Amino acid sequence: MLARAMRRSPMLALVLLVLLACEPMRAPMDATVDAGLDAPVADVRFDTRVDAGCTRVPGELVGERSIESGELPLLSWPGTEGAVALRDHHEPCAPAGRVIVIRELTAWSAQSLWHVAHTAALVAMDDVVVIDLWAADEDAMPMRTERLDSVVARYDELPDAIASDPDEQLGAIAIGGIALPIVVVLDARTLHLERWFTDPRAGEIEDAVRATQARLREQTRPPPFEPELLDGRFTRDRWEILEAMGAPYAPPPSSSNAHADDVAAAALGERLFEDASLSPSEVACSSCHQEPRSFTDARVVGRGVEDVTRNTPTLIDAAGSRWQFWDGRADTLWAQALGPIENEREMASSRLFVAHRVASAYPADYEAIFGALPPLADGARFPAEGAPGDAAWEAMRVADRDAVTRVFTNVGKAIEAYERTLVHTRGRFDRYASGELDALSVAERDGLLAFFQGGCPQCHWGPRLANDAFFAIDMPGVGEGALGDQGRIAAFDTLAASETRAQGAYSDDRTTPDPLDGLDAFPERMRGAFRTPTLRALGDSAPYGHAGTFMTLRSVVEHYARVRRPHTPDPRVIGVRDPHLIGFEDGRIASIVAFLEAL
Ligand code: HEC
Ligand code: HEC
Repeated sequence: MLARAMRRSPMLALVLLVLLACEPMRAPMDATVDAGLDAPVADVRFDTRVDAGCTRVPGELVGERSIESGELPLLSWPGTEGAVALRDHHEPCAPAGRVIVIRELTAWSAQSLWHVAHTAALVAMDDVVVIDLWAADEDAMPMRTERLDSVVARYDELPDAIASDPDEQLGAIAIGGIALPIVVVLDARTLHLERWFTDPRAGEIEDAVRATQARLREQTRPPPFEPELLDGRFTRDRWEILEAMGAPYAPPPSSSNAHADDVAAAALGERLFEDASLSPSEVACSSCHQEPRSFTDARVVGRGVEDVTRNTPTLIDAAGSRWQFWDGRADTLWAQALGPIENEREMASSRLFVAHRVASAYPADYEAIFGALPPLADGARFPAEGAPGDAAWEAMRVADRDAVTRVFTNVGKAIEAYERTLVHTRGRFDRYASGELDALSVAERDGLLAFFQGGCPQCHWGPRLANDAFFAIDMPGVGEGALGDQGRIAAFDTLAASETRAQGAYSDDRTTPDPLDGLDAFPERMRGAFRTPTLRALGDSAPYGHAGTFMTLRSVVEHYARVRRPHTPDPRVIGVRDPHLIGFEDGRIASIVAFLEAL
């Protein structure tokens, strides 16, 4: 059966080979340098041989064609200046060796961004057309054509064409999990897929192009390129991604909070953070976010007045994230702080209660930073407790409600100023990344390599080892099915209705572009999706996952190793698993754990 499939379709044969092996396919470079289509099945060809006399015209293709079969049809993708069409690059009569390189990229993956920032070498090659397809934006939302402009600045040199491909069509090629980017090399005369690979190393695309061109021209293959390995392990691309993880770090500016970097605001914020009297039930932020535990609580799910349904995340580096909460239902740190205060299960307080408390305990500190407090002593105008939805609140004058909400949001802004000071300390990993090789043990360095080979830095990158994008990765939550935790998809309505967005009335800078513009819901892929968390402070932040279902780092890494293998699904897993988890052999688990422990 395999032989017949092989004759019919090399891609199908590969699918079968992989299924038979029952192990996920490894990134080609890690397996063998030449895992492209021309390896074991090089002489299997469709009826798209080059027409020697060249009577064909562009757009005339023979045979049944599909991405999976390795014979690309005349696909086209939307670009900012009209469609980017393979028809326009199909040149049946071109001299042998003219190739089209298509790269499938996302703005959330470190390796995609590395290759984009190193496009110049590829573009400089002769007889190569480079087409870049962007599947997703930095939040892992399907790429919208009008957002393509935002990727242009990431290039060192522009390719021949840029288009959006929200369905990640080339993903059909990568069986067993997609480690981005996906790269295909086509013969421009036939649109035959000559080579394909995922997660290429620095120089590997150029090498594949040279080898393909030599083969098409019937010349001898140039000597394969030998990548230089740093610390005997890391190709240049990986080393540069790793250097960026260890780079000195400070949170980016927070323009929606004019007091974000104000020392007095941070001092007030720290006191508010620790003040249990902001809540009638005596719960403080610090009840759950405990400093000695890197601002976590060692519980499966947080407990205030009652248990909540999610695990308490660390606040170390939280100021660096584009979104707050596991589902990103707050877009600023100051707006985030308002949630737990009014949440029934957490602090069960209200903005009126907090405003009165500020007026009695911190009037001078508050007014020195934010200006005069409203006349809260007037009990007729300002009841003791109340928040939107309560009768007492709704009975208040609009201007008085606004004045109280302003005090409340200023409390959030002071807390943000404090939280901005909570950044990770540079440790052994960071010293290693800056070139001090002895800072990590050999086992930890091997683990770091396994971390790359396991596809982890696609999502866990930058100094916080997090891309802040949203993925359904089969980690169980609280509840099952429709009653289960739906994650990001359910955050849309909260965000859209929020009066405390970065673009809203209480923001100090409403000019930042709104990522919700043009949307009326998050797409289905956001069901069961949660934000990639930082991997800093991991040693203190067990248990892990959005619902704290993993007690140890080892169990998290086992999850990643086995997630693609056949298993009985956990009913608490919501959504369709993201295709970018690639899985790996159990042999690498211990090594990756050793590395994570060194972070
Ligand atoms: C009952 C325990 C509890 C209390 C009290 C609490 N938190 Fe949290 N905190 C959590 C949990 C649980 C989450 C995750 C909730 C979610 O994602 O839905 C969280 C999330 C956060 C986040 C987002 C971090 C991230 O990476 O997404 C920040 C910041 C934060 N809390 C700050 C605060 C502040 C400030 C206060 C006080 C105003 C506070 N918390 C009170 C348990 C608590
Ligand atoms: C496609 C993106 C993606 C990839 C690839 C990925 N992760 Fe994650 N990681 C996430 C998301 C999203 C979560 C949170 C998911 C949840 O709780 O539902 C997470 C959670 C974690 C956590 C738990 C952290 C905490 O504080 O709870 C660890 C540890 C972790 N990942 C390590 C890894 C390792 C090791 C790899 C490689 C084997 C990896 N990740 C690959 C996106 C990714």
